[in-house]
Amino acid sequence: MNNNKKDMEDNKKTWSGRFNEPVSALVERYTASVNFDQRLAEYDIQGSLAHAQMLSEQGIISTDDFSAIQHGLQQILEEIRNQQFSWLLEQEDVHLNIEKRLTALVGDAGKRLHTGRSRNDQVATDIRLFLRAAIDEIIQLIKAMQQALLDLAEQHLHTVMPGFTHLQVAQPISFGHHLMAYFEMLKRDTERLIDCRKRVNQLPLGAAALAGTSYPINRERVAQLLHFEGICQNSLDAVSDRDFAIEFSACAALIMTHLSRMSEEFILWMNPSFGFIQLADRFCTGSSIMPQKRNPDVPELVRGKTGRVNGHLIALLTLMKAQPLAYNKDNQEDKEPLFDTVDTLTDTLRIYADMLSGVRVNQETMRASALRGYATATDLADYLVKKGIPFRDAHEIVAQAVQYTEQKDCDLSKLALNELQQFSIQIESDVFTVLTLEGSMNSRNHTGGTAPDQVRIAIQKAKKWLTTDHIFSRA
Ligand code: ARG
Repeated sequence: MNNNKKDMEDNKKTWSGRFNEPVSALVERYTASVNFDQRLAEYDIQGSLAHAQMLSEQGIISTDDFSAIQHGLQQILEEIRNQQFSWLLEQEDVHLNIEKRLTALVGDAGKRLHTGRSRNDQVATDIRLFLRAAIDEIIQLIKAMQQALLDLAEQHLHTVMPGFTHLQVAQPISFGHHLMAYFEMLKRDTERLIDCRKRVNQLPLGAAALAGTSYPINRERVAQLLHFEGICQNSLDAVSDRDFAIEFSACAALIMTHLSRMSEEFILWMNPSFGFIQLADRFCTGSSIMPQKRNPDVPELVRGKTGRVNGHLIALLTLMKAQPLAYNKDNQEDKEPLFDTVDTLTDTLRIYADMLSGVRVNQETMRASALRGYATATDLADYLVKKGIPFRDAHEIVAQAVQYTEQKDCDLSKLALNELQQFSIQIESDVFTVLTLEGSMNSRNHTGGTAPDQVRIAIQKAKKWLTTDHIFSRA
């Protein structure tokens, strides 16, 4: 035996039958995925168990072989859970590592497991099972965060804050209303995930390498065993497209984007120039040089990690864009971005729910800020419109009143009636009800408006939505 042949015997690859020399150590390391795809092991075993059961029910393997495979895979699962399983780089990936061990444990039955299957449809199945479980967990975590938002909003129905446009004081709003805006974003995020889940939850197995298989398989049975709600309808598409993963990443990027916006607000509000809120100490850090500092590290990192999740979306799109049908090894690169997306998102959601429950609100500071910014100027204009003045003229009159008030360095509501009447004789003593922050806020009393009565209704609706199970075909 020449040296190459001998090396190959010592380090035999499952697929190496026709090869004359082993791959170099560098190629082995470069092409292997076991260091990261071992995370799919439990799903790989679930998929194999269902496949083997179907093979035996169809008479493609014997019931004895199926039972040997079952016991072997059960033992492997325990070894993996107890960290006693030796993952071997030379076995390339999670699938071949498990199959090799199975064959060592149960002999020929292990070698029969791969009948009518390819790693191409196997890996596509594993990722879909992984992602389905991840989506279910993420939906629960979003709901926990929404609950924390609701709790805080309920305490602050009547807390007035300045609402901003262009980050300039615009109109007074209820802090509860502001928080509920994020509830709505997260609700849409959940709906997107639920919709994405339907397309994730389709079975690729049976597509084999690319064209299907000549064995009399029963794909519907495998789908049923694995709780897939349908089967992929084209074998080439089943093994090659990762659009379901891209779609999930887009959902994740949007969720992170929403959390990043909230983080940006928390960071601003914690700055003493705003001074609207304080985060609990456990979400902040100090500076090693400036003793006075209390830095909002957690929201800053959420903002920062959003870049990384958005980046993974672009990585997956780029991975896919030039691949001819059907499977290509490029697809092995789908896993790390996907895993990191799931990990970053689940950690962020967990931390956020906790952080929200520890937010302390400085109501007086919020109120003072709204008073400083002429937040009720629109209300004065609307008051004049109701007295018959065209809106554009009313806008002009109020602009002059604001300019006057700026010189006096006070709020509109602090002007005397005769001072206000310099700008329009239509102004009467009832004007003061609309010039107060509460008067302004309470007057926006329609669906979606900031009046505390409406925010209360929004919270009731939100509570009902939270307790509904939106996933109809649960595994
Ligand atoms: N590790 C591979 C992947 O993640 C599994 C499929 C390999 N298939 C193949 N024909 N080499 O995509």
